[in-house]
Amino acid sequence: MSRSSSSSAVPAAGRAPLPGLEAPRRPGHLPPDANLPALQEALLAWFAAHKRPLPWRVNYTPYEVWISEIMLQQTQMERGVLYFKRWMARFPDIATLADADEEEVLRLWEGLGYYSRARHALAAARRIRDTHGGIFPSRLEDIRALPGVGPYTAGAIASIAFGERLPCVDANVERVVARVFDVDGPVKQEPAAGVIRQWALRLVPEGRSREHNQAMMELGALVCRRKPRCAACPLTRYCASLHLGITDQRPVPGKRAAITPVTAATGVLACAGRVFVQKRRPDDMWGGLWEFPGGQTEEGESPEHTVVREFMEETGLDVVVTARHGVIRHGYTTYRLALHCFGLALAAGAAAPDVPPPAPPVLTAATECRWVTPDELESLAMPAAHRKLADMLFGPRNTPGDPRELRL
Ligand code: ADE
Repeated sequence: MSRSSSSSAVPAAGRAPLPGLEAPRRPGHLPPDANLPALQEALLAWFAAHKRPLPWRVNYTPYEVWISEIMLQQTQMERGVLYFKRWMARFPDIATLADADEEEVLRLWEGLGYYSRARHALAAARRIRDTHGGIFPSRLEDIRALPGVGPYTAGAIASIAFGERLPCVDANVERVVARVFDVDGPVKQEPAAGVIRQWALRLVPEGRSREHNQAMMELGALVCRRKPRCAACPLTRYCASLHLGITDQRPVPGKRAAITPVTAATGVLACAGRVFVQKRRPDDMWGGLWEFPGGQTEEGESPEHTVVREFMEETGLDVVVTARHGVIRHGYTTYRLALHCFGLALAAGAAAPDVPPPAPPVLTAATECRWVTPDELESLAMPAAHRKLADMLFGPRNTPGDPRELRL
């Protein structure tokens, strides 16, 4: 792959100084900007000795690098490894993924959140099949043009899979760079973000992008953590913030997004051994996932009232509350959900019908609905809180040959 487009824009090591290194240092400190080759070697040697044996560090196919990178965004490593292995067992290559249906892709992604990543991955695999002859593109512009691939992911694929001299700046790398180069300013905001990008780029040694970028991420994940483990760090001699005694002040945090509490209600409407679920619109949050209808409580409204009102608004079905299943709590990036859960029956007539009624004529929040058995719920992708509710009512999942009884 050509290196021209990225490397020509790279400032040479040690050329113009970047802000952040003006403060005086204690003796013994080797300023990182003046010692880049030694710093790079120390980092690479540390990585060779300490890297974790992760499943995407075997073949380095662009497909594996891509899937691992999108899975690891907002995901803890252990969970990422588990999901990655399952994914690769089912979709071992781009062609298999491209031919899969969205339901199955979402089901395998269930629990990782941010489901647009899974939908985009499927769309990107189809794009690669249809417009790149099934071969993962190697040019940065083509990688960047794939659905769901932003600058971070494109840089990671181009550098780790194809050896382009580009940095990968995730939160771990931000922390390492902010400490080593003593970048003073909130790291997510300009000018500090730009300074970090430039240092990160200058740091990448020619021809070693794959190892270097992973070493930076690994150092941030294992050593240069929020509470740094400086005794285990290969870069102590170079680290400006360590020598200034201010590692606890780097990186400078930005404003934390406020976490809003949200109260909502949902209900499991049962009829003749089946429950009612609906599939969310593709452009909604949780688009393409199946859920029990419900919604947010309004000011002064009881959760019981909410669930009955929401059912009517979303499906036209008139329901009554038959059971209280408690409150499921789930944390999201910007809000904390308290989901009040109910058992429901159709209000029409005292006796429940023997078969579920036909699909209701109104679906205002969904594209499709179904009456499913608890076993069939297994194969549908659901948002985490709804899966918790299904598990709570119908028992543990993944017990093959042990059909779950409807316990309502
Ligand atoms: N986080 C994101 N990408 C990673 C990788 N390749 N190795 C370790 N941690 C990562």
